[in-house]
Amino acid sequence: MKTAVITGASSGLGVDFFSAVAENYPEVEEIWLIARRKERLEKLAKRYEKVKIRALGLDLADEASYRQLEELLEKEKPQIRILVNNAGVCKSGKFGERTLEELFMMVNLNIKGSTAMARLCLPYMEKGGIAVFTSSVSSFVPIAGQGVYSSTKSYLTYLGRALHEEWKSEGIHACVLCPGNMATEMNPIDVEKASKSKIGKLPYLDTRKVAVETLKRAEKGKACYTPGRFYLAYQAAGKILPHSLMMKLNRL
Ligand SMILES: NC(=O)c1ccc[n+]([C@@H]2O[C@H](COP(=O)([O-])OP(=O)(O)OC[C@H]3O[C@@H](n4cnc5c(N)ncnc54)[C@H](OP(=O)(O)O)[C@@H]3O)[C@@H](O)[C@H]2O)c1
Repeated sequence: MKTAVITGASSGLGVDFFSAVAENYPEVEEIWLIARRKERLEKLAKRYEKVKIRALGLDLADEASYRQLEELLEKEKPQIRILVNNAGVCKSGKFGERTLEELFMMVNLNIKGSTAMARLCLPYMEKGGIAVFTSSVSSFVPIAGQGVYSSTKSYLTYLGRALHEEWKSEGIHACVLCPGNMATEMNPIDVEKASKSKIGKLPYLDTRKVAVETLKRAEKGKACYTPGRFYLAYQAAGKILPHSLMMKLNRL
């Protein structure tokens, strides 16, 4: 069965990826939605009655969920047309002020979870299929005050780009999405805080547009997509200027 698999589908950008797939890919017969809050996924499933939805309540930071997913894939043998590897977590703040549990949560979900999804889904990806990796502008230059998060996202950018090259021969298009600010549960707009924080002053992206445009770029075979002129300029500056200088400017 032609299938789309979307992680982090219970809120934020993941919900918009779900809508974009449900509305623009009539050939997709089933969509697998993955997140911990299964009840949210089940509620979302009612939005589109024409497409079959499978709500999978999995904690992708927990290795036990990889086994569960592996077994399900073996049983169902889906023909994966679209993989959106989008689940992620960010705990900003000074390294010494974060607990080991919080730091490991980022490593386990952003690195291990995304790697596991890509590896487990690969045998079922169809030729011509797309695989999106939601990274971040935080992956361009290390960020003091967001050290572990920016490191995990730089891993993801490298992994996605490497797989873009590697999977060309298999006809699978991997595309790394590097968004900046988006008003989601992870990064809600807080007017009071925004006036004091550097991040809060930066432009916010429209998650709906980001999701639709990302899928289009992936279909065209693009390796990376950074939405918004401001963030494209930041990416370019990260390539031209020494990181030691950029890190003085971007520290939180
Ligand atoms: N918002 C921004 O400003 C921003 C900027 C750059 C990049 N990003 C990236 O964009 C992606 C989407 O984030 P968002 O902004 O849409 O934030 P969000 O609303 O917090 O969404 C995060 C999603 O990940 C899921 N998730 C979290 N922990 C999980 C776990 N252990 N296992 C399975 N799923 C888990 C959440 O669902 P449950 O809680 O139900 O599990 C939720 O569906 C992330 O990769 C993030 O790093 C966000």
